[in-house]
Amino acid sequence: MTWLDNDTAAASRKEFAAALDPSHTSAWRDAFASVPRHVFVPSFYTQGAAGAWEHVGPGDPGYLEAVYSDHALTTQLDERGIPTSSSSEPSVMLAMLDALDAREGDTVFELGTGTGYNAALLSHRLGEENVTTIDVDPELTGAAAQRLADAGLHPFIATGDGAGGWPGRAPYRRFIATAALRAIPDAFLKQAAPGAVIVAPVGYGILRVTVTTPGHGTGWFLPTPAHFMPRRTPSAPPAFDAAREAEPTKTTAAPSDVLGRLRFPLSLALPGHTTCSWRNDKGELTAVGIWTQDGATATAHVSGTVRQVGPRRLWDVVEGLAETFAGEPQRQEFHVNITPSRQTAWYRTSDGPAWDLPQPQ
Ligand SMILES: C[S@@+](CC[C@H](N)C(=O)[O-])C[C@H]1O[C@@H](n2cnc3c(N)ncnc32)[C@H](O)[C@@H]1O
Repeated sequence: MTWLDNDTAAASRKEFAAALDPSHTSAWRDAFASVPRHVFVPSFYTQGAAGAWEHVGPGDPGYLEAVYSDHALTTQLDERGIPTSSSSEPSVMLAMLDALDAREGDTVFELGTGTGYNAALLSHRLGEENVTTIDVDPELTGAAAQRLADAGLHPFIATGDGAGGWPGRAPYRRFIATAALRAIPDAFLKQAAPGAVIVAPVGYGILRVTVTTPGHGTGWFLPTPAHFMPRRTPSAPPAFDAAREAEPTKTTAAPSDVLGRLRFPLSLALPGHTTCSWRNDKGELTAVGIWTQDGATATAHVSGTVRQVGPRRLWDVVEGLAETFAGEPQRQEFHVNITPSRQTAWYRTSDGPAWDLPQPQ
């Protein structure tokens, strides 16, 4: 392999892999110790104190340390300065790869090529001929293909919406998504080999599903929190102007819960929702906003005043969850059942609180 490497990077990488897997139990340790993350992240963006993005490259202080540390690194921004691609947090990548339970020779489909680093880890361990990776952004797939080739790896790379899978190379024994989904795409279930395993961020958790029979699966969430970029889809902006005019009501649910203890269940109950917060000069939370793709919007002030507009009353959902959960529910207590017509997340027992995930795309 023609790694664009040097002794300093190789030494940093060994330490990095050892720190990621201190108990020496992961089958992926050698991949993390061998694949040079710096080749796949030749530069990244970091946000300064004032919020402005700064570009950091190999000549800059701290570059190599950051690349070989357990941090997600933003690698692409849109014209508004919003991150659109990143190299995920290595410990989360490792947790997902471990959960994939893949063996050498397993075929794997990845949604979200990004930098190509995860595709390189997969190719290193499972064999490049077994890896299919897709990203929606041609600029990213072009750059990833070049970096993978520089590293001597040639997995199959395509550009498009990964929710469609890639039927031409199906069936797959394993699926891994590195952009947040709202439900397991129908195409994954159709392109799955018997007994296939799917690991994907759904809402703010990581779901691991086993495909039991065609179109059917069962699974649960890993304990690992996940904050992946959403799969790119069109969405409506929040209707804050209309909300300001709405009749106020009172709530006992705490706005801070939306950003804290209810964050994960809310991502199942209101798939694809977005939140924002307002703070005073001291940095204290004063209000939160929440909106969904259909234009429904709610704002809740810490004084207990709520305003809701649009086709759904989003704050009513928050109140329902605040009543259901006394504290912060553990992700691993949430399970999912999949049939061809329905995907349902449930808490603790199958007759407990449950939420239908959106119809698979
Ligand atoms: C966290 S990054 C992926 C990190 C990547 N696996 C790596 O190792 O660098 C998420 C990626 O998902 C991609 N993405 C978003 N929506 C997508 C879609 N519908 N289909 C395929 N890729 C998508 C984004 O362009 C972004 O590159």
